[in-house]
Amino acid sequence: GGVTAKDALGNDIIVSTYLTSHPAGDRTLAQGLKGDPTYIVVEKDSSLAEYGINAVCTHLGCVVPWNNSENKFICPCHGSQYNSEGKVVRGPAPLSLALAHATVADDKIAFTT
Ligand code: FES
Repeated sequence: GGVTAKDALGNDIIVSTYLTSHPAGDRTLAQGLKGDPTYIVVEKDSSLAEYGINAVCTHLGCVVPWNNSENKFICPCHGSQYNSEGKVVRGPAPLSLALAHATVADDKIAFTT
């Protein structure tokens, strides 16, 4: 089963209003599968990406912030870096960030494995 993406307050994210306040290229954390912090990705064409990016670093589990000016996720713990799609580009992280499928139904985002 999947989960409906929720914002920091625990409310369902409504896609149509979300996209009016999150510009192309935006990556903002939501609550995803198993409660993991998961980035909602807005594509360059301002559509919602069909995947979310799990923010848990594959090294030792720190939550990895998005660095918009560098167009990367940069882990504050030991410096691992991931590109804008979550692919690892610098260690010590051994693996890319996990992706979740993101589909839209009833104007809400459903994350599934
Ligand atoms: Fe992210 Fe170590 S936990 S680099």
